[in-house]
Amino acid sequence: MAIYLDNAATSYPKPDIVMDKMYYFMKNIGATAGRGAYKSEIESDRLVYNCRNNLCKLFNFDRPSNVVFTYNITESLNLAINGILKNGDHVIISSLEHNSVTRPLKILEKTKNIQISKVPCNTYGLTNPNDIENLIRTNTKLIIFTHASNVIGTIQPIKQIGKIARKNNILFLVDSAQTAGAYPIDIKEYNIDLLAFTGHKSLLGPTGTGGLIINCDAEIKALKAGGTGVDSKYPYQPEYLPNKFESGTLNVVGIVGLSEGVNYINNIGISSIREKEQILTEYALKTLKEIPNIIIYGPKSADKIVGVISFNIEGIPCDEVGFQLDKTYNIMVRVGFHCAPTAHRIIGTYNTGCVRIGIGYFNTKSDIDILTESLVELSKT
Ligand SMILES: Cc1ncc(COP(=O)(O)O)c(C=O)c1O
Repeated sequence: MAIYLDNAATSYPKPDIVMDKMYYFMKNIGATAGRGAYKSEIESDRLVYNCRNNLCKLFNFDRPSNVVFTYNITESLNLAINGILKNGDHVIISSLEHNSVTRPLKILEKTKNIQISKVPCNTYGLTNPNDIENLIRTNTKLIIFTHASNVIGTIQPIKQIGKIARKNNILFLVDSAQTAGAYPIDIKEYNIDLLAFTGHKSLLGPTGTGGLIINCDAEIKALKAGGTGVDSKYPYQPEYLPNKFESGTLNVVGIVGLSEGVNYINNIGISSIREKEQILTEYALKTLKEIPNIIIYGPKSADKIVGVISFNIEGIPCDEVGFQLDKTYNIMVRVGFHCAPTAHRIIGTYNTGCVRIGIGYFNTKSDIDILTESLVELSKT
């Protein structure tokens, strides 16, 4: 039987209800949302609105129209970054950011003279929030933090950072790609102004879904303009939410699936999901340690990470480990570089890359045991 341990890339499997409701929608409803007044169209509208509501419930937010859908978190981050930053603004980011944050910023550094400061962290990816205060300048517009590293899983002190951002009147944008659906997030309590999320990872939805939750009145320029289904004769893009940022036909079938994924999480309870994944992550840290010549990166304690563990086996290149795990043992993991070059520098794998396992809600101890046994065998070859 195949074992999937690449949930940090995308979650698999999805709950049956996600597929069932998408199929039902495609077969029986199939209409666009926000563009007509017939029954199926109104039902599509309702389903999209339900998804906004389910997300509000998960993240403790109360303005469903401020939940803007995108196609993935990369688009959400590009929207927030490009929509907010103006010539000469200063941005503070973590040292663990994904390329979906750093690449848009590098473009703006060239085109708009944006200044970027990175908050240092130690080799375990632990950040001291006080270091942020020291980096604040008069022109600091935005603080961007990944909630948890996609390379070593380290959870960042989002609550403390949110406090600092609010105290200094700086906008706070959180990349929740590795935490939404896996770890509790409270938009209000953490003073998050902009929460970017992706639908296909721990939120258990399909690819092609994501969004940005806007909890501020900051001026944000839209990335695109076009049809919104309303105010058709108005020559400009409507200024109200969510239409301002949702030009073009929505991925309704994807949103239906995402809605069911989020509903599934809400029914179980995010704390129970976290508890289950934390137990499994602790178990993985304990068993992997026993593999000869293994180097595990990041914190060795599951309360400091989400279910993302990176490692190398001395003497075997990481791509060979991934290849053998797949070919011989039918185990799927991610190897190489994980779109966050600074994180690789911090853990010392900038030249070698590493093997990454992404533990998901549906993994079991037996998956971890089989992985460990396979790696023990591999390390002896
Ligand atoms: C921390 C982080 N940010 C952003 C992304 C980009 O996600 P997506 O490809 O869904 O846009 C990922 C996914 O790999 C991630 O782990």
